[in-house]
Amino acid sequence: MRNFVWGFIIGLILIPVAAAVYFGGGFAPAAVNDPPFPLEQLVAGTALHAKISRNAPKRELSSFTTPNIVDGADVYRHHCVGCHGLPDMQRNRPEPKMYPPPPQLFTPDGYVTDDPVGVTFWKVKNGIRMTGMPSFQNVLTDQQRWDVAALLATADKLPPEALQTLKQPLFPPPPPSSAKPTAPSGAKPKVHHPAS
Ligand code: HEC
Repeated sequence: MRNFVWGFIIGLILIPVAAAVYFGGGFAPAAVNDPPFPLEQLVAGTALHAKISRNAPKRELSSFTTPNIVDGADVYRHHCVGCHGLPDMQRNRPEPKMYPPPPQLFTPDGYVTDDPVGVTFWKVKNGIRMTGMPSFQNVLTDQQRWDVAALLATADKLPPEALQTLKQPLFPPPPPSSAKPTAPSGAKPKVHHPAS
């Protein structure tokens, strides 16, 4: 009994001291390149899954039409490409890193095609805390969030129209100008300084 009490008291002191040294002493991971925390993925993942399975709305993938998925591709191209990439995208220069890294949603390693559409809808609406995944609550409408969720749910068998939309450049080159060179429309008017 005495041993148990001593063990209890020492545990009560040692655990907080060890935690203080670990966190306060700069041993805990804080940089993007640090290895994950012991149990980090488990703790963060469990909380996220519990929350999502309670709150995600339910909707059948079959209720979306091809035009919905094409609209989703347009949303994706404007808001998601930079982090989540495109089909067959070659990243051939060094990229800034994030931890956790954003999954490449059009590669077999990153597909969320097994997730219910409502789960992806929830993630797009609410974001994922303590990761770089933003909440698009104030940026997209419910319809746009459903459309992009439906796009990602079909990422492994995209209709060709959606693929085409995804691949359109965000900033298309200006149309060829007519023969005579004219001043670009945004050019500043010339300022005439009065002769001094
Ligand atoms: C600034 C970068 C960034 C942008 C922009 C971004 N995301 Fe994310 N997203 C992330 C990161 C980082 C994660 C990984 C979170 C994690 O590991 O839990 C993520 C996770 C996700 C997931 C969950 C993937 C999985 O495997 O469960 C989905 C779905 C998703 N994002 C969809 C989108 C959509 C759709 C958009 C655009 C409307 C978008 N994201 C924009 C960074 C971003």
